[in-house]
Amino acid sequence: MTNTASRREFLIKTAATGTGLLLSSVQGWALSENKKIRVGLIGCGSVSNRYLPHLKTSPHVEIVSLCDIRYERAVNQNKEYGLSASTYPNIDAMLAGVAFDLLVVTTDMQVHGAINKKALLAGKHVWSEKPMANTYEEGKSLLELARKNNLRLWGAPAVVNSPQFAYMLKLIREGTLGKIASAHGQYGHTGPDWSAFFYEKDGGSMPDLGVYNIATLTGLLGPAKSLVAMTSVVKPERTIEGKKVKVVAEDNAHILLEHENNVISHIMCGFNYFDPHGHEAGGQNLHSIQIFGDAGNIRLIGYDWETNGVMVDNSWTEPPKLMSTDKGGYEWQEGATVVSESLVKGIEPKINVEHALHVLEIIEGARKSQETGMRIKLKSRFPYPLF
Ligand SMILES: NC(=O)c1ccc[n+]([C@@H]2O[C@H](COP(=O)([O-])OP(=O)(O)OC[C@H]3O[C@@H](n4cnc5c(N)ncnc54)[C@H](O)[C@@H]3O)[C@@H](O)[C@H]2O)c1
Repeated sequence: MTNTASRREFLIKTAATGTGLLLSSVQGWALSENKKIRVGLIGCGSVSNRYLPHLKTSPHVEIVSLCDIRYERAVNQNKEYGLSASTYPNIDAMLAGVAFDLLVVTTDMQVHGAINKKALLAGKHVWSEKPMANTYEEGKSLLELARKNNLRLWGAPAVVNSPQFAYMLKLIREGTLGKIASAHGQYGHTGPDWSAFFYEKDGGSMPDLGVYNIATLTGLLGPAKSLVAMTSVVKPERTIEGKKVKVVAEDNAHILLEHENNVISHIMCGFNYFDPHGHEAGGQNLHSIQIFGDAGNIRLIGYDWETNGVMVDNSWTEPPKLMSTDKGGYEWQEGATVVSESLVKGIEPKINVEHALHVLEIIEGARKSQETGMRIKLKSRFPYPLF
């Protein structure tokens, strides 16, 4: 697809959602490549240290507004990253303050849905860290609101952007692995030690960690039709910022997904896995994703968010080969930057909001399966393949 064709499609898709002033501003950006997206970021904690420097590298972005309920954090990040943004202590003040186009949401998980809704009602495009809402229905209503108001909404993670994801999808689609039967993904570490929300209701290892593997495996194998899951709390208490925190959300989860064509995948995630690579996984040479077909298997080396190559095993005589080792500039924190560029250039990004909603329905379904002991049918779908 040429840039012109994809740009036209992007504009048609955006136009299909309605008419009005905001649409013409999106078209305006798409037609003027020098235009910058004015970004506001809410939640100036740990992950903002990844987002802000990455956003700063983009010629299409201007960071104009920062917000945190721990106001000093917004002020500190403004200084730390040499920004000249306006700073605010809450979302209402931020939305009433300096004008911006895209809200980047990096707060505690539990408040994403409410913040995203306020932003959409105020006419902002939204990039939300995962999950974009606490429930699938809440997420779906956010998407309806965005479409009604000619706005775009996207949710993390950005794993489908890596060249390794594209390479694995190509092998699967071209039939190199033969008939696909099964897949496995795993991701865990010993758990965040800086904020309690990860362990509170609607937190947990599935929306924080499992979300990456769920996005990768559904992105590679297609939407899931049903699931069964077991979750548990392994460590019932943590100490965060000197205070005891009761662990309510699951810190250990196993999910089995049923995809089309009888393919079954399995994902395990948790906050009690020893991992010497932790958050700096560039040196990880073990695999975290495996796909099995009757003519070949592939293993993703590293993590789907920090990819180090793909091991391809499809010969009876030759040893497995390490392929696709070049990250091509991909970084897990690039989502907000990529969608900003897509708004400027009018090119549809690979990241798809219906895919993010499907992942959210899976997480909610896994919780339901644990509560009821039942297999859960899934109703959401997304356009597969994504690109
Ligand atoms: N830390 C990471 O490495 C990492 C990586 C990928 C994704 N994420 C995701 O990013 C999000 C934030 O995680 P974090 O680790 O940065 O957490 P954090 O606790 O370090 O930061 C969250 C910030 O949001 C602020 N906040 C909370 N509620 C708010 C509200 N209503 N309005 C304004 N500010 C509010 C908090 O005061 C805090 O400063 C989560 O969804 C997490 O899953 C984190």
